[in-house]
Amino acid sequence: MIRATVLAGIGAAIPPRSVTNDELARTLDTNDTWIRTRTGIRTRHWADTGTSTGDLATAAGARALKSAGVDSVDLVILATSTGNQPMPGTAPEVATALGLGHVAAYDISAACSGFLYALSAAAGAIASGVAERVLVVGADVWSTRLDPQDRSTTIIFGDGAGAAVLRAGDADEPGALLGFDLGSDGTGHELAQVAGGGSRERGSGLPARPEGAYMTMQGKDMFTHAVNRMAASSEQLLGRVGWSAADVDWCAAHQANIRILHTVADVLGVERSRMLVHLDKVGNTSAASIPLALTDAAVSERVKPGDRVLMTAFGGGLSWASTALRWPEIDVMEISTEI
Ligand code: UT7
Repeated sequence: MIRATVLAGIGAAIPPRSVTNDELARTLDTNDTWIRTRTGIRTRHWADTGTSTGDLATAAGARALKSAGVDSVDLVILATSTGNQPMPGTAPEVATALGLGHVAAYDISAACSGFLYALSAAAGAIASGVAERVLVVGADVWSTRLDPQDRSTTIIFGDGAGAAVLRAGDADEPGALLGFDLGSDGTGHELAQVAGGGSRERGSGLPARPEGAYMTMQGKDMFTHAVNRMAASSEQLLGRVGWSAADVDWCAAHQANIRILHTVADVLGVERSRMLVHLDKVGNTSAASIPLALTDAAVSERVKPGDRVLMTAFGGGLSWASTALRWPEIDVMEISTEI
């Protein structure tokens, strides 16, 4: 019998430094009104020098373990595209920092879809008996890779981490992950990318182009794909789970742009008021955005035990993913700013 994977705890962390739209407008050709009306973002949090993705992931992971009331897991999966360094992965360091001993630990690179991809990997590990309990973390510190002259990326991205503890359980328990829809399209890999630093752009060991370290994004194309992919993936998932759009109490969609959230709602036939909105406070936090939005909504008691929650994500790759659950009875703490 295939064992179900059940959400047992959740936690999140952001760096303390808030960067407002007005602050960005001092150095970039932009303004608060444009950013608010075109993206919905009011502020974002950026890590100070010396704070790494691993540090944020550890802070979020500690909260998730506390929320689940456990101090051990069998596996740590970290979804990130901005690990502490290109090699090795950051998950082992996070596991060690959390005092989890010599557990299996690895990174997943699926950009803004990473957290949901990592949930599916955790579900696979639990179903196969590889693990009884898994810590999944989505964390990114994109502020280190933003071109200060590029107003299409700099205004959007914020740093953060969100984590969840998953355990083996029964499919009819609240918190059970009810299914997955995952997909990718490599023809769009250039639409959001860090072009340098990998095996494609070869240098003589040193970076071929220093500016290749920046993230670049073709915003309009990404916008269209984000709407189409999240809506289609959500529809697939709803069909698999046997829910209609009217059954969805909350949709935790990747927090890229308020206009994307509204359009996805309209296409799906879900009330706009059912879309969780957290991007106004933290911007687009990439792999962290869905667990951050869920933590925020659970702390403020918008999402309550028993609520039917649809999660859907889209990001670089291109990649997309959806899953769903009934919200379980779990303790949730405020998003931490103590890193
Ligand atoms: O997380 C992974 C997925 N990422 C996404 O889904 C990102 C999706 N894309 C977006 O959110 C939007 O495309 C952006 C926020 C990046 C850009 O918004 P847009 O509405 O697509 O702007 P645009 O590029 O079409 O530009 C519209 C106008 C242009 O001016 P003109 O040519 O109409 O005079 C731009 O030059 O707005 C101008 N503009 C800006 N003005 C002030 C573009 N960016 C800015 C800015 N501040 N930051």
